[in-house]
Amino acid sequence: MSGLRRERIEVKSTDQLEAMRVAGLVVAEGLAAMREAAKPGATTADIDRVGREVLASHNATSNFLGYGADYGLPPYPGVACVSVNEVVVHGIPGPRVLQEGDIVSVDYGGIVNGWHGDSASTFEVGEVDSDSHLLVEVTRESMWAGIAKALPGNRVGDISHAVEVSIQSHGRTFGILREYTGHGIGTAMHQPPDVPNYGRPHRGPKIVPGMCLCIEPMVTLGSDDIAELDDEWTVVTIDSSRAAHWENQVAIMPNGLWVLTEPDGGRAKLAELGVPYGGPD
Ligand code: MF3
Ligand code: CO
Repeated sequence: MSGLRRERIEVKSTDQLEAMRVAGLVVAEGLAAMREAAKPGATTADIDRVGREVLASHNATSNFLGYGADYGLPPYPGVACVSVNEVVVHGIPGPRVLQEGDIVSVDYGGIVNGWHGDSASTFEVGEVDSDSHLLVEVTRESMWAGIAKALPGNRVGDISHAVEVSIQSHGRTFGILREYTGHGIGTAMHQPPDVPNYGRPHRGPKIVPGMCLCIEPMVTLGSDDIAELDDEWTVVTIDSSRAAHWENQVAIMPNGLWVLTEPDGGRAKLAELGVPYGGPD
């Protein structure tokens, strides 16, 4: 039935998207600071602490901290998910020490004036092996391939299909998580529609100006089979293969795209992809 259900997708005014950009920039600043902190010897709790400081410095609140309580989960204890190597997503910050050669996915969000920001990056800790580097790059490129399809008139399935095709276009097979998807975002962190990282083109809700979508591929070097640890959060690959996660939050504007969680609004990368930038000059 879900294909027939009319999802109420929140459509924002340009003023509202500008308000949400403030949250997006705070999140971008926090991720940049956490990238600097992701050095050998740092713990995943250290990374989270940096994220807290950036939120506090902007009087932003966390949309991650305490999340899940409404869904019967243990309230999420961090402002970021810090997921190392075989941890795909939702790694709880703690005593784990980053080692040279690790990859660490940091998913982070914040709320400013009621508007939500949400973004993720995978950082390389020192020098990483070539497979890990490829995984990180393939995952990031697939996020942008999806963003490039988030244009008015397309459908959500066009994004999903582009992400999948991009991931599987490198002459080897990667695992793509099925259980977790991208999502709408606005006055809440998770809104309709779901944005899967695989699927058929020309399906799903029509994309219109005023929507804001988080596009967030989660990709592994091995199988897509995952397990959740007893903490009810940490998601690991069953085959212990490494995973990467990239996420950006993109506003659909009448004349193009505005990537709210990129410092330049996505200008440079959209130009490279031949996609119109739709944010302010
Ligand atoms: N921000 C994640 C997402 O991209 C969800 C984080 S779950 C939380 O959808 F509990 F950590 F907040
Ligand atoms: Co998200």
